[in-house]
Order: sequence, then structure tokens, then C-alpha cells
Amino acid sequence: MKIALIGYGKMGKAIDAIATAKGHEVILRVDLNSQHLLEKEHLEKADVAIEFTTPETAYHNILKCFESNVPVVCGTTGWLDKLPEIKEHCEQQHQAFLHATNFSIGVNIFFEVNKKLAALMASQPQYDVWMEEIHHTQKKDAPSGTAITLAEQVLAAVTRKTGWVNAENQQPENLSIISKRIDPAPGTHTITYTSAIDDITITHTAHSREGFASGAVVAAEWLKGKTGVFTMRDVLNL
Ligand SMILES: NC(=O)c1ccc[n+]([C@@H]2O[C@H](COP(=O)([O-])OP(=O)(O)OC[C@H]3O[C@@H](n4cnc5c(N)ncnc54)[C@H](OP(=O)(O)O)[C@@H]3O)[C@@H](O)[C@H]2O)c1
Repeated sequence: MKIALIGYGKMGKAIDAIATAKGHEVILRVDLNSQHLLEKEHLEKADVAIEFTTPETAYHNILKCFESNVPVVCGTTGWLDKLPEIKEHCEQQHQAFLHATNFSIGVNIFFEVNKKLAALMASQPQYDVWMEEIHHTQKKDAPSGTAITLAEQVLAAVTRKTGWVNAENQQPENLSIISKRIDPAPGTHTITYTSAIDDITITHTAHSREGFASGAVVAAEWLKGKTGVFTMRDVLNL
């Protein structure tokens, strides 16, 4: 498969290594200094584009791929207010688009486990529930986007909790998310249900950013030849 990498930072480089090791050919590498390469004459030679750039540039880059008839896998976060527009463009122009805020296959499976456990705990009010996320000290946002997704899944089922707070719990109706910043943790997420009798805990621990990169390559392999708007749930058949 011929791949165009749009964004060649930490994720772009990790994806390059994994895609090449799997026998794919990276035919285009675009960063801030080589944006002039983001034209149809170059893009249309790719079977798929993988976009990991910045919130300010992702929208424009995705439209460039659509104009060039290239399916696009996008992992850039922070621009999702424009996602409905992108979906509309994709459908109108019969293109292919796949976005995920977390491409790790393990995290996507963990999301499903979290939903299942929350559904079981909905009718067990003797359990309190709280969360913890641990990341490296360079991480600027807290709680992590993955923690927010996990919290929203819990809140959708466990209605005795009405919202999340990024602090130790003060009110029983709040879902507490405790954020810790410890090097070199690439990302650990834990959900604990606790009662007077016992605790039930589920944890996902990332060992490196390779999980995000290899998930993006799997998504690109899956997207080739399709049209429509997809997520990792489609790729993993969850
Ligand atoms: N979905 C997931 O699983 C997942 C996982 C990790 C990260 N992310 C997200 O992915 C994005 C990138 O993360 P990262 O860690 O790779 O960031 P990064 O190391 O800062 O890399 C960003 C890259 O985008 C390039 N870039 C900036 N503007 C561009 C433009 N207009 N056209 C083409 N390239 C442009 C930068 O070029 P220069 O090097 O020249 O500045 C750089 O190569 C972030 O939004 C992050 O939150 C998602």
C-alpha cells in the first residue's frame, strides 16, 4: 500500500517506522516546511493518507485529500467542532474518512469493557465509582481525552453520577477523575468501583506510543477501497 503521511512529528515518524516494517511504501512525508507537497499531483499517487498534525491544520488537510480522491485516516485531536462538516463533505464527495481520538486497539477494546461494566453497575448503588489517569509530565491537558471518553461512558450508564470532576470527590453525585503526571508513563487509565465489601478495578496501561501508530496503520489498511465515514469501532468490528 502507498501511504502519504501528513504531519511528520512524533506520531508521523512512529507510523512511518511501523508502516515500512509491514511492507508498505511511504511515498509522501509532509510537515510544516513542506506543505507545498500537499497538492493533488502528489496526493493522488497514494492509496491512503494518514493525518497527524495540529488542530489548526487538520480540517484543511482532510479536504485536500478528498479533492485528490484519497481515503484519509486522521488522528489529530482538538478540531472536532468541525467534524460534522467533514462528514458532510465526505459523504457528498463519496470519499473515505476515519477518525479516532485514540487509535490504540487495546484502548478501543477497553472502551467496550468499560461500557459493559458500567451497565452491570448501573443497578448496584452500593458501589461508588472513581477514575485515575497517569501520564508523562509533558502532557498539557488534564484529564486526558481518553479519560473523558471513559467518564462519558460511565456517566451514560451509572445515572447516580451526574457529571465528572477533575479532583478528589467532594459530592457523591460527581465522578472523580484523579490526574497524575509521572515520567515516563505513556498513559494509564483505571476505573474502580468500590463498596464496603469489595473493589472491582479495570486498568489499561500503554507501554509506548507504538499502540497509537500501529492502530492507525491497521485503520489505513482497513479503509483502502472503502467509501464513507468510519471509526475504530468499525475497524475492530466492536
Ligand atoms: N488518535 C491518537 O491515537 C493520537 C495519539 C497521539 C497523538 N494524537 C494527536 O495527533 C496530533 C499530532 O501529534 P504528534 O505527537 O505527532 O505532534 P507533533 O510531534 O507536534 O507533530 C505534528 C506534525 O504536524 C506537522 N504540521 C504542522 N502543520 C502542518 C501542516 N499545515 N501541514 C502538514 N504538517 C503540518 C508538524 O510539522 P513541523 O515538524 O515542521 O512543525 C509536525 O511534523 C495531535 O493532535 C495529537 O493530539 C492522536
